Amino acid sequence: MNTIVYHIANDEKEYVLEEAAEIIRSGGLLAIPTETVYGLGADALNGKAVLKIFEAKGRPQDNPLLIHIPEAAWLEKYCEDIPPLAYRLAEEFWPGPLTMILKSRACIPSETTCGLETVGVRCPDNEVTAEIIRLAGVPVAAPSANRSGHPSCTSAEQVMEDFAGRIEGIVDDGACRVGVESTILDMTSTPPKLLRPGGLSLEDIRKVVPEAEADEAVYRQLKEGEKPRAPGMKYRHYAPEAPMTAVLGGGLKTADYIKKHIKAGEGVICYEEYLDMFEGYECRSLGREGSPEEHAGKVFGVLRSFDKTAVTHIWTQCPREEGLDLAVSNRLKKAAGFCLINV
Ligand code: TXA
Ligand code: MG
Repeated sequence: MNTIVYHIANDEKEYVLEEAAEIIRSGGLLAIPTETVYGLGADALNGKAVLKIFEAKGRPQDNPLLIHIPEAAWLEKYCEDIPPLAYRLAEEFWPGPLTMILKSRACIPSETTCGLETVGVRCPDNEVTAEIIRLAGVPVAAPSANRSGHPSCTSAEQVMEDFAGRIEGIVDDGACRVGVESTILDMTSTPPKLLRPGGLSLEDIRKVVPEAEADEAVYRQLKEGEKPRAPGMKYRHYAPEAPMTAVLGGGLKTADYIKKHIKAGEGVICYEEYLDMFEGYECRSLGREGSPEEHAGKVFGVLRSFDKTAVTHIWTQCPREEGLDLAVSNRLKKAAGFCLINV
């Protein structure tokens, strides 16, 4: 299969969007840009099309997909018993990096929900993708566009590395603005529970829902046999090929610790300020220590970049669990398989 790359920044935009929408309508796979990460999309109402996503990603069949809609007005077509709070959150944060888990209607096939009674709904902040969904006339099921278990993709080039020849098309809209996936909020529990930290901070959610709490699985590794509320959270995730250790603590202390323990042939992820300490090693910057936006924008690209090197082990500094950094530290800890050192 020849994967077509659609560049939308040209004067044939209308034609390009129509062709991309036709891929969705006809049951094909289309990688779509969002403000968080690229998604691997298919018609969410077409069970056969949805199964192709699982196949292309190598995704376990018990890990449900989120559906993407262009505006909150579509919510009631696909969900029922929607609490008024969901509309308030949509008004405040959509389009944007918030996914809400709601009770799904029967029109959403079990291939999409993996048999759950709920479905995660997201309204991405990307005009191109919103327009493609409108033209297709159906919600688009889309997990992050990466091979299952590997770091997510924040550029069309990265999606090509993982899926060239295996999907019908990719819509290239440049680098993703946020860089980590959406925040998942379970609206079926009282009070609503944060299942995955992401591009919208818990602090921001609490401005609308003061009693919102994060699920324990956000902070720690699940115990043997423990069942997560978001099925995807039980799998090894976001992981580069090389094993990784995350070092937690202040910037200078953690850089010193890594410097003391790193061996020849190993790699480092550190804040911009400490790059000089690791000359001679494969070293990547996570951005400035005080800039969570930079950490989020860089984290997946940095993780993926080590797969092109021969490093035998990766050491990473890890930001504190607050604001957007809660998502960044969650991704790094999972990428490290919870191999953590506190200094
Ligand atoms: O930013 C994002 O959310 C990206 C872009 C492409 O929109 N999508 C994304 O999808 O990250 P995915 O499939 O990689 O991650 C979705 C997570 C998985 O861990 C899945 O188990 C969980 O959401 N999930 C899906 N449906 C659920 C449900 N009904 N209840 C609880 N968790 C659910
Ligand atoms: Mg994913």
